[in-house]
Amino acid sequence: MKAAEMFKVEGYGAIVTGGASGLGLAFTEVLAEHGARVTVFDLDQQRIDSEVQRLSALGYDVSGMRVDVTDRADMHDAFAQVHATYGRLDVVFANAGIDSGPGFVTLDRTQRVSEGAIENYEDARWNKVIETNLNSVFTTVKAAARYMKPQRSGRIIITTSAAALLIESGVGAAYMAAKAGVAHFMRTMAQELARYQVTVNAIAPGPFITNIGGGHAFRPEVQEAFGATVPLGRMASTEEIKGLALLLASPASSFITGAQISIDGGATLGQLFEQG
Ligand SMILES: NC(=O)c1ccc[n+]([C@@H]2O[C@H](COP(=O)([O-])OP(=O)(O)OC[C@H]3O[C@@H](n4cnc5c(N)ncnc54)[C@H](O)[C@@H]3O)[C@@H](O)[C@H]2O)c1
Repeated sequence: MKAAEMFKVEGYGAIVTGGASGLGLAFTEVLAEHGARVTVFDLDQQRIDSEVQRLSALGYDVSGMRVDVTDRADMHDAFAQVHATYGRLDVVFANAGIDSGPGFVTLDRTQRVSEGAIENYEDARWNKVIETNLNSVFTTVKAAARYMKPQRSGRIIITTSAAALLIESGVGAAYMAAKAGVAHFMRTMAQELARYQVTVNAIAPGPFITNIGGGHAFRPEVQEAFGATVPLGRMASTEEIKGLALLLASPASSFITGAQISIDGGATLGQLFEQG
């Protein structure tokens, strides 16, 4: 098979949660650019409207629905609507996620942060992160499986994080727990759904410049702090995730399931003490 065939997603029906911004928007774009029909589920109506309008004007088949991924009933209704429209469901990106506030040290790891200390960690913050970053993935995969199993095909791709593999001490503890939980849930689902030819994989990004956490990644000092944790020495642009996303969504990845693929400039290789 030639590369153009291997990476073909033309005519696919796809859902991207959190698809109106950041990494999810990049997933939406790369699928749409290659001829898939994509529905974005997102909380942010303004961003849905502007991105759907922009991508539709480019001739792509992109729609949007305001869906809160933590609302289980709404999620199942939204999946049913998309399936009724496309008559198929080939690719689902379980991507929506939120930041969890400060960790127990500052991003540059030089000072302790009282708000992130375990004895002060707010229950509401813990619950919201677990609900959005872990429980919603359960809901998304459950809804996807209902359509993909009978179809005997499908690709489920979950956004985890470098935080599923190592501790990012400058990021709140709930985020570590959620992402590590999602990674192992992904492996369970890969095993369960394999006999139905549904693959389940995870993309584990290192630091990308997106709107997460109120867009703090656009601040130079944040880029410097995260860049210092990456052997390639910088944060990434969302364009850089498109190739891996297309690989996992397309026939090119037909024998990949249960894999968590890092895309992090080497951030999870271990600590690097290098000067100059
Ligand atoms: N940016 C990074 O460096 C990075 C690194 C590792 C993992 N991630 C993960 O990537 C995923 C995408 O994050 P991003 O960085 O692109 O952030 P982002 O804020 O740019 O995009 C996230 C999108 O998800 C939507 N969203 C949030 N809560 C939602 C909900 N309850 N229901 C529906 N939509 C909701 C937001 O409205 C937003 O459009 C997240 O799971 C995040 O944890 C990001």
